[in-house]
Amino acid sequence: MYLREGRLEDLPYVADIGSEALWNDEIVRYLAPNRSKHPLSHRDNYLFRTKKRFFAGDRLIVAITDDNDKDVAEQGRIVGFAFWSDTLATSRPQHLPSSSLGNGFEQAALKLEGIYRWYFNIDRSYDKLRFAKFWETLSQNPFFEDMAQYWELEVLAVAPKYQRQGIGSRLLEWGMNQASLFGLPVVVAATFIGEHLYAKHGFKECGRIDFEGSQFSWAAMVWYPPTCRIADATER
Ligand SMILES: CC(C)(COP(=O)(O)OP(=O)(O)OC[C@H]1O[C@@H](n2cnc3c(N)ncnc32)[C@H](O)[C@@H]1OP(=O)(O)O)[C@@H](O)C(=O)NCCC(=O)NCCS
Repeated sequence: MYLREGRLEDLPYVADIGSEALWNDEIVRYLAPNRSKHPLSHRDNYLFRTKKRFFAGDRLIVAITDDNDKDVAEQGRIVGFAFWSDTLATSRPQHLPSSSLGNGFEQAALKLEGIYRWYFNIDRSYDKLRFAKFWETLSQNPFFEDMAQYWELEVLAVAPKYQRQGIGSRLLEWGMNQASLFGLPVVVAATFIGEHLYAKHGFKECGRIDFEGSQFSWAAMVWYPPTCRIADATER
């Protein structure tokens, strides 16, 4: 298995993996209660959000099978991905259109599409009221506002069939290595399952947001590399 930067043509595979891997995540269960009734619409919404991230400049890293993998029937297949962002925007992702005008056009078109999707109820797997409440809770509790600079793991997902083989760790370690180069911490808003993975890699909890009267929560987690030039907030 190897990692490479994601490209535009990877996005449909990324959407398949993300929507499948997060199908039973507690926040998805809450936000998209109608996903079993409208699975295609659910996957389509995931693809839309993936495109928005991609053109907003988040760095996409994909994991691809090769002949070093045991028991993998299909070589060259995307089996996991991560989206990373960094507050310093240290380098421009290769996938962005070369002109900022072209990229601005993509972003404007996606913004319009977002408005259209919301008003015409295109995303039928979602509960719009819950979605609005969710965003309100998030905006009232910004996770990492007191940290000036960091790398953030925005999304991490591995195709269910390929989980527990170290792929999630490889995708996570990619960003941890990058952040180390710049002496910056790595932050993540962790799902319940993600918390185990991050704790295993030395992340510590530095906050938590409860949703719907604590029915479920997201843990804010942070990891400071040995090269870090920012004080460890979890030791204050
Ligand atoms: C979280 C996720 C990316 C892990 O991917 P993965 O390839 O299975 O991860 P790894 O094989 O590298 O696992 C490393 C460690 O993470 C922990 N871990 C991974 N999956 C776990 C699970 N389902 N339950 C508990 N711990 C888990 C374990 O400590 C594991 O080490 P072990 O296998 O030696 O016990 C994957 O389960 C996934 O896509 N989940 C759905 C999406 C999600 O929740 N993403 C996190 C967003 S914050």
